[in-house]
Amino acid sequence: MLTLSNVDACYGESRILRKLSMEVPKGKIVSLIGRNGVGKSTTLRSIMGLIKTPEGSIKMDGEELIQMPTYKRVRNGIGYVPQGRDIFPQMTVEENLELGLQPLGGKGKIPDYIYDLFPILPQFAKRKGGALSGGQQQQLAIARALVAEPKILILDEPTEGIQPSIIKDIGVAIKKINEWKGITILMVEQYLDFVLEHTDYLNVMEKGEIVYRKETKKADAAEVQKLMTE
Ligand SMILES: Nc1ncnc2c1ncn2[C@@H]1O[C@H](COP(=O)(O)OP(=O)(O)O)[C@@H](O)[C@H]1O
Ligand SMILES: [Mg+2]
Repeated sequence: MLTLSNVDACYGESRILRKLSMEVPKGKIVSLIGRNGVGKSTTLRSIMGLIKTPEGSIKMDGEELIQMPTYKRVRNGIGYVPQGRDIFPQMTVEENLELGLQPLGGKGKIPDYIYDLFPILPQFAKRKGGALSGGQQQQLAIARALVAEPKILILDEPTEGIQPSIIKDIGVAIKKINEWKGITILMVEQYLDFVLEHTDYLNVMEKGEIVYRKETKKADAAEVQKLMTE
């Protein structure tokens, strides 16, 4: 589905990713984990075309994306929820959701299943985004990325700063998005238990490269934990 091969990524002169390769198989839930600052968000930004990637290849369903502008990548079926969610606090929930239609040229409508997935959204439709809790904002950000009906959904730390009961809801929603719609999922996480419970494959990153990859059910949790803390 999504294949990164030998990708380098830079902020100005500083090279953050070095020959990073990663495979996200179609229909699966895949995680990218690792300590702070190793380049997880940079990897997602590379996939979205939000940072310079002078070397390597990023293919979706065989099509090369590396030179493609971000809006085309979104149109081609990549949904992205950035770290920190980035919803618009002064806009209502409904308005925030409608922004998700922009990549389609403002046409189309919000798919009904999104309201089944996140029942708080229709309930709070007229409320300002900024009035929602962190967990509710995360749900809104995920919903907004789903509005354009992506083939793959990319999430950057969906559980960060969110209370445990809502983390559970988000885990359930991710599973449903994958099962109901067959949407492939790539998520960056630091919360190992969440990854062990909800993913099919895991990739552990250290400074700019992937150092461990495994089918989640075959992974040695203690070994992964060690890689994430040392
Ligand atoms: N906008 C930026 N400009 C320069 N360096 C950056 C920028 N964003 C991140 N970095 C650096 O890139 C490295 C990787 O960051 P990031 O991908 O955000 O890590 P992670 O998501 O794994 O915590 C860090 O050393 C960070 O300081
Ligand atoms: Mg990050």
